Amino acid sequence: MNQHLRLDPIPFVDISAQRRRLGTALDEAVGRVMAHCQFIGGPEVAQLEAELAAYCGAKHVVSCASGTDALLMVLMAKEIGPGDAVLCPSFTFCATAEVVALTGATPVLVDVDEATFNINAASLARGVATAHKAGLKPKAVIPVDLFGQPANFDAILAVAEAERLFVLDDAAQGFGASYKGRRLGTFGLATATSFFPAKPLGCYGDGGAIFTDDAALADTLRSIRVHGHGSEKYDNVRLGLTARLDTIQAAVLIEKLKIFDDEIAARNRVAQRYANGLGNVVGVPRLAEGCTSIWAVYTVRVPGGRRDKLAEALKAQGVPTMIYYPKSVHQQTAYKHFPVAEGGVAVSEQLSADVISLPIHAYLDEPTQDRIIKAVRDALAD
Ligand SMILES: Cc1ncc(COP(=O)(O)O)c(C=O)c1O
Repeated sequence: MNQHLRLDPIPFVDISAQRRRLGTALDEAVGRVMAHCQFIGGPEVAQLEAELAAYCGAKHVVSCASGTDALLMVLMAKEIGPGDAVLCPSFTFCATAEVVALTGATPVLVDVDEATFNINAASLARGVATAHKAGLKPKAVIPVDLFGQPANFDAILAVAEAERLFVLDDAAQGFGASYKGRRLGTFGLATATSFFPAKPLGCYGDGGAIFTDDAALADTLRSIRVHGHGSEKYDNVRLGLTARLDTIQAAVLIEKLKIFDDEIAARNRVAQRYANGLGNVVGVPRLAEGCTSIWAVYTVRVPGGRRDKLAEALKAQGVPTMIYYPKSVHQQTAYKHFPVAEGGVAVSEQLSADVISLPIHAYLDEPTQDRIIKAVRDALAD
């Protein structure tokens, strides 16, 4: 019996547990869309946008088809293109830099802080110098709220102001977290997030949103979302995309937003228990002062080349792990030719060698957490 329990596989993210909790409320929400048949631009889309705006305090919310589109649309709206440089951390998911390259601009890859894994302001300033030396015009910075913890906005906004960069916050992993008492969604010019199913606020397909206080930018984003339409339906005034959030996804998100804060609290309890149980055997993540996290991912550091052995040992115990990210962006085939900030990106490279992520979600019960903690401790004791 014990043997069976020990080997029972644990899901990395348990979307079905949340589905069970939401039960018929979700069925009814989707059923309402099936009844009114406005699958694109139905009333749920505007309702969700209003509720998201109220949730984070942003004046305007433009929902869209993915987190990647959310980032790309802002760069398109600001007419970023060839000859421009956009600064991004190298330790992130590739989409942060991908959108820059898609516009024809150059991503300049910047190092991150050892303690928070988020963009380092000193390296950001060096990256601006690197861009100038390469004959590029630095236009923007895309800080990432990696794994759910906000970037260091005071320091980033200071560099951005000095260098006249606009700030596009990549909150694909961080929406719901706060920095110095303010929820993400209101820092810099605009914030992008993702509703990919595994995200803390995820839908049942792809989805995303952009947050901004700039009314003119929001109007341009709404135009880009539908092929760059103008005020007349078939007068397209700029290049755009098909990047709408569909109504069924909006209906799903409205239900999930109702329990989002409760789920964030549950994720924080798991993170606290992990920190207590593992703090003396691995490098556990710590929150910077004034930050709350939504713990989209729980990532620990296991230096000294022991990470892969730990992953194997945990797998044998039915404990899944992920490596976010085994290569920093500048180490990946499609991005190797882009410049890195002067001084290099050594912290990003070291993190890519050391990090490993453990299961975390709002429905991970304490016995399962204890099993994971024990499995990690046992594996590292060998
Ligand atoms: C940091 C970051 N940026 C952007 C994205 C892109 O979001 P999407 O998958 O919704 O396009 C993701 C998604 O994983 C992400 O983690």
